[in-house]
Amino acid sequence: MPTTSRPRWATRGPKIVRPIPGPKARSIIKRDERVMSPSYTRSEPLVAGEGWGCYVKDVDGNIFLDLSSGMFVLNYGYSHPRIVSAVEQQLKKLTHFAGTDFYYEAQVELAECLTKITPGNFSKRVYFGNSGAEAVEAAFKCVRWHKRRPRVISFTGAFHGRTFGAMSLSSSNVVHHRYFSPLVPGISFMPYPYCYRCLFRQSYPGCDFLCIEFIREYLRKVIPPEEVAGVIIEPIQGNAGYIIPPPEYFPMLRELCDEHGWPLIVDEIQSGLGRTGKMFAIDHWKVIPDIVCVAKALSGGIAPIGATIANARVMNWEPGAHASTFGGNVVACVAAIEGLKLLKEQKLVKRAAELGRLALKHLKELEEKFKFIGEVRGKGLMIAVEFVKNDKTKRVGTRERDLVLQAALKRGLILFRGGKSVIRIAPPLVISREDLELGLDIFTEAVREVGRKC
Ligand SMILES: Cc1ncc(COP(=O)(O)O)c(C=O)c1O
Repeated sequence: MPTTSRPRWATRGPKIVRPIPGPKARSIIKRDERVMSPSYTRSEPLVAGEGWGCYVKDVDGNIFLDLSSGMFVLNYGYSHPRIVSAVEQQLKKLTHFAGTDFYYEAQVELAECLTKITPGNFSKRVYFGNSGAEAVEAAFKCVRWHKRRPRVISFTGAFHGRTFGAMSLSSSNVVHHRYFSPLVPGISFMPYPYCYRCLFRQSYPGCDFLCIEFIREYLRKVIPPEEVAGVIIEPIQGNAGYIIPPPEYFPMLRELCDEHGWPLIVDEIQSGLGRTGKMFAIDHWKVIPDIVCVAKALSGGIAPIGATIANARVMNWEPGAHASTFGGNVVACVAAIEGLKLLKEQKLVKRAAELGRLALKHLKELEEKFKFIGEVRGKGLMIAVEFVKNDKTKRVGTRERDLVLQAALKRGLILFRGGKSVIRIAPPLVISREDLELGLDIFTEAVREVGRKC
């Protein structure tokens, strides 16, 4: 954990002193309802006041332990003093410069770091945008430009963002598409290997990888492979509920891409930068992608940034083909550089792997005990608990999941929904072992409370 300026309130576990929402929170939520876009999916009435490490204090003084890293952004915790200080220094020097038309060193330095940590020992190029969706948008445009082909392959359950390109590549929830058509054409969705709920009703192992065979069949009957510009996939699906493909899957997908000369794009926006106990989730499969998209945790939540890191052979578009005024803003770059230093110096990737093993062991014991927990799965600190009505039928347990979330929040624990019936557990990589164990104990109490009712 950060060693300086830790406020006393962020040291002693969660503490609920007022109802959630309390009076100040209620009044802010009322104002919010009058002016904010109704498209946001606010699920809990929590109004943040300040944050530190893995703790958040709401505007009424309630203290929460956040095991969701502020929606998978705060890998270094809230307001890490080193990142805050780097940003403060930068703000005094230069807040913005037209990085698309001129130069500044922080942008180059961050690009150099990213080319070193991403898989693949080849020359790379980096494009900077302002968000995850923009990182994906750039990858999408880049492969179309490079291959001069109209089609892209994506996967069922994918979430890549909400701009038109990224939304068109997504298929995690129909509400993301409803009334927005026509979407970007030429995208074909293949079945993601969700072994717990296999679309082909097979069981791994022994399934003959029908999910890969399906793509091959599609190429024979529906889409000519020579019209495909590339394949985009999340190595571990995020919003769908941390779905982890089996060990053979990515080598097989890579082989398919190589057969047809398709660039493989991996969306590491949620899974990248150490979260899974490897620098990138795709490293678990030892597969080298052509393009990697990152955002969320990159600048530690201090300034928006997204990056698309590509094999230089693939990112060969011409000047003017793509750019964004604020993409790779100097303050965001400085925050990201400091974050990557922390990741290395504090060995946070290894730490995520170790703490993840501890958490997974604890949660697997719950899976054994409670019939409404269907599956616990995870890599590093990217862990999912999937709820069911009963573990034999595997009927989705949305109500059970929601009750556990509420019971946890009542005790001051922030967790995140995923898929139809999943809770995602993704604490900051800097969380102390004690805070993690405390969070897991609170989660266990919440599960027990719901277990008594279900
Ligand atoms: C895997 C993945 N890709 C893309 C995005 C979109 O990122 P943003 O919301 O920053 O546009 C997200 C956001 O949740 C994500 O999880």
